[in-house]
Amino acid sequence: MNDNETRLAAAWPCKTRELHNHHFDSTVWNDFVFRDDDIIVGTYAKSGTTWTQQIVGQILSDGSPEVDVASTSPWVDLRVPPKPEKLAAIEAQAHRRFLKTHLPVDALVYSPRAKYIYVARDGRDVVWSMHNHHANANALWYAALNDTPGRVGPAIEPPQGTVRDYFLDWMARDGHPFWPFWDNVRSWWAIRDLPNLLLLHFEDLKADLPGEARRIAAFLGVEVAEDRWPAILEHSSFAWMKAHAAQAAPLGGVFWDGGAETFINKGTNGRWRDTLTAEDCAAYEATARRELGEECAAWLAHG
Ligand code: A3P
Repeated sequence: MNDNETRLAAAWPCKTRELHNHHFDSTVWNDFVFRDDDIIVGTYAKSGTTWTQQIVGQILSDGSPEVDVASTSPWVDLRVPPKPEKLAAIEAQAHRRFLKTHLPVDALVYSPRAKYIYVARDGRDVVWSMHNHHANANALWYAALNDTPGRVGPAIEPPQGTVRDYFLDWMARDGHPFWPFWDNVRSWWAIRDLPNLLLLHFEDLKADLPGEARRIAAFLGVEVAEDRWPAILEHSSFAWMKAHAAQAAPLGGVFWDGGAETFINKGTNGRWRDTLTAEDCAAYEATARRELGEECAAWLAHG
């Protein structure tokens, strides 16, 4: 085992393989050469990753409509392309790099020099978004996930049953059929006071995009001319991103027959309220409190 695998095994003896079952390669961070101005956007998944990448891309480009997050902001720990190719492509980037990860912070090499932005979203919203992502994926997506060299574990199958069934399974098997949820949120929350981490919440991005975008710019040390904000905010809006979804969604949306608009789907929270029972919600909330502690669970729920 290399450094990251050893650390993962020590932290979560039974979850290391589970993480590796899917398409992560956390070892890529062992060989990653940081630059002082690197930006890493982290989330569990389906939590506003792409949106935050878009906001960052807009801030860095003074609101250029040309920014193509899908190709300029790679997912570092994705197993594809293979590690040497991935690292070479990232190394070749001449612009200020903004990269994506879905790992818990314990599984990264955390640089004190880079800037990290972590975005959280209520687990129920995550599942509703994930279900759309998964249920509408095409054969190319399954092939990319299941046939990736180095991947082990059972193949990911199309979801069965209702979205509630999907939620209950995700709860019962912590993130199934993808990766563990609670560890991810808890790990980033634990380091929230570090000066090079900015913790964001999907709900706050929705409630006050201008305010949150200004916080991001200040955190990144980017001075934005006042007259550039309208373009930055327009290009970070749901309507604009939906209309230009191929510039944002992974690989331009090839994994969905409905295209990238399937990925930039609804952009709303609380769609589970009409479906989950009061008991389902109580069970979720109790698990959140147990797994995260009161303060973090309250922040995640953002109620
Ligand atoms: P929904 O599936 O609930 O619509 P990620 O990039 O982490 O996979 O997250 C995807 C989610 O972010 C999707 O949620 C997507 O619609 C939403 N999203 C992307 N851009 C957005 C925007 N500008 N405003 C609101 N939601 C956005």
